[in-house]
Amino acid sequence: SQSAHKIVALFVGLFCLFLLAPVQMAPTPASMCTPLKTLNDSLSHRRRYMKHNFPINYTIRVHQHEVFKLSNISRMRLQVEGLDELVLQRLWFQVNQGVLKKILRVMPERHPSRPYTAELEIRFRDAEGVFVHSHPAEVFQQELPEVIQDTWDHLTEEPDRVPESRWRYASPKSLLDNFCHTMHCLFSECFASKEAQQDYCSVSYWRKGRKKDLEPES
Ligand SMILES: *[C@@H]1O[C@H](CO)[C@@H](O)[C@H](O)[C@H]1NC(C)=O
Ligand SMILES: *[C@@H]1O[C@H](CO)[C@@H](O)[C@H](O)[C@H]1NC(C)=O
Ligand SMILES: *[C@@H]1O[C@H](CO)[C@@H](O)[C@H](O)[C@H]1NC(C)=O
Repeated sequence: SQSAHKIVALFVGLFCLFLLAPVQMAPTPASMCTPLKTLNDSLSHRRRYMKHNFPINYTIRVHQHEVFKLSNISRMRLQVEGLDELVLQRLWFQVNQGVLKKILRVMPERHPSRPYTAELEIRFRDAEGVFVHSHPAEVFQQELPEVIQDTWDHLTEEPDRVPESRWRYASPKSLLDNFCHTMHCLFSECFASKEAQQDYCSVSYWRKGRKKDLEPES
């Protein structure tokens, strides 16, 4: 009968989805969660070290693409159909490696936030190491979608060949806010809470969080 056919079709469909899922959006390997949570612990002190120890309105010069926010992620997901999470995760590592390097570069040897930032960088490198080792090497040789490849090429350009128009000024705190928010969005499986389904990729989630903590505007 027809309804039996429909049920069979449904099962076949579900089965195919199940088969396809790991290919289309590689889940975050569980091994990633330990270093990412450690990183998250460090990031919880970012206000103290990235704002209070710097002059008011202090900004540093970063590459345009080093401003990598939740809105960039949603835009890229719209631009590239079936965009693999792994591609965005790779981009996240690439961007934030540059961000940490630039923050460290402006801090003199004895800057009170230097040990914090240096430790953050070590923890970031640890997470990157686990990331690289928990995926087969071929994954990192895969061709990137064009928009992502363009971004990547710009990020890895020699600094003195970057035209003036592609530099931006951003505060260290805002860069680490982006770092933290996009980490939760792209590795949400590691930050899932038991009580409630959270959408770490939505800007409103972080606005709410800010009010809850009664943190002053940054
Ligand atoms: C991440 O850090 C925040 C504090 O910034 C904390 O509230 C949250 O529980 C941490 N998440 C995990 C999974 O460790
Ligand atoms: C910091 O920036 C804000 C907004 O742009 C401005 O109103 C304020 O005067 C600035 N503070 C200092 C000390 O420059
Ligand atoms: C994020 O979006 C801004 C514009 O809102 C853009 O300047 C920046 O290059 C984007 N970042 C990346 C990594 O694409």
